[in-house]
Amino acid sequence: MSASLPVFPWDTLADVTAAARAHEGGIVDLSVGTPVDDVAPVIRDALAAAASAPGYPTTHGTPALRESAVAALHRRYGITGLDPAAVLPVIGTKELIAWLPTLLGLGASDTVVVPELAYPTYEVGALLARAAVVRADSLTQLGPAVPPLVYLNSPSNPTGKVLGVDHLRKVVGWARERGVLVASDECYLGLGWDAAPVSVLHPDVCDGDHTGLLAVHSLSKTSSLAGYRAGFVAGDPAVVAELLAVRKHAGMMVPTPIQAAMVAALDDDAHELAQRNRYQRRRDVLLPALVSAGFTVDHSEAGLYLWVTRDEPCRDTLAWLAQRGILVAPGEFYGPRGARHVRVALTATDERIDAAVERLGS
Ligand SMILES: Cc1ncc(COP(=O)(O)O)c(C=O)c1O
Repeated sequence: MSASLPVFPWDTLADVTAAARAHEGGIVDLSVGTPVDDVAPVIRDALAAAASAPGYPTTHGTPALRESAVAALHRRYGITGLDPAAVLPVIGTKELIAWLPTLLGLGASDTVVVPELAYPTYEVGALLARAAVVRADSLTQLGPAVPPLVYLNSPSNPTGKVLGVDHLRKVVGWARERGVLVASDECYLGLGWDAAPVSVLHPDVCDGDHTGLLAVHSLSKTSSLAGYRAGFVAGDPAVVAELLAVRKHAGMMVPTPIQAAMVAALDDDAHELAQRNRYQRRRDVLLPALVSAGFTVDHSEAGLYLWVTRDEPCRDTLAWLAQRGILVAPGEFYGPRGARHVRVALTATDERIDAAVERLGS
């Protein structure tokens, strides 16, 4: 099976990582985008309090978790009309994305549409189901085709681009007319800087009707919980019920202590805002430093990454930055259109970000 999948992209960075590590001031790793800030005490306390969990967890998640998710989506993103039954916890959203086409029963005769520049797991999920992948950012690119599943990702990984309400409405209308399922990966929705991202489940987009729509939400970045593996999917009640029915058989359950920690994370907006402010401060210093060093910044109006170019092949830019001890991700990881860009993550400590800024200036 692994032979049918792409090379695991991060495995190709060994040489450039070694070069960055050799810098006398140590590496500044802005590549994978793994959170580095402490987990908030309110979340750790909830995890510890739920540590005695001898029984199996519920696949659908506790009622408290599903209610907290509905309330957080309303408070933070203005989503209305969501029934807690239409929320389903997942073992990190990468797990859901990798298996969604399989869980939906898609196969060799099906096509999954992903953005031109996209988080690689959308393609992996399609390949695991033996489905085909089409990269497209506009509906006209699809012609008369009726794919069963279309992914949206706003704000985008890797570009930080935000899709406006009009664009989202158009996709939703088009999908509804054709019975196409739209899976909107919204893991960076709370990180709008120069634009205000909107959920596909927001009434301005879907008129309060969640039919044919799934929103995928991760707590990895908003609450620095990547190590907990905590996310959920919400939307069309019938589709969520179908995913639940299959996941029950497959043992795809979020551990009980993690479910309790998720409740604490979803109920508390203070730590989420503090985390957002940390990323904003890092962006505020890193973005101008990249511009001063001769980079062009494209999109990057939201999310956790700066999408930048020196108008040269991305591996050359990687090497240029590695000489300065800075490791980033090559744009080609995200699709052929990324060949001349690199993705710079905002996920490093303030001290490491300041080190990168200094090195870019010298
Ligand atoms: C666009 C996108 N979706 C999903 C994920 C997966 O997040 P997790 O599995 O931590 O929930 C990531 C992680 O970087 C991502 O960038």
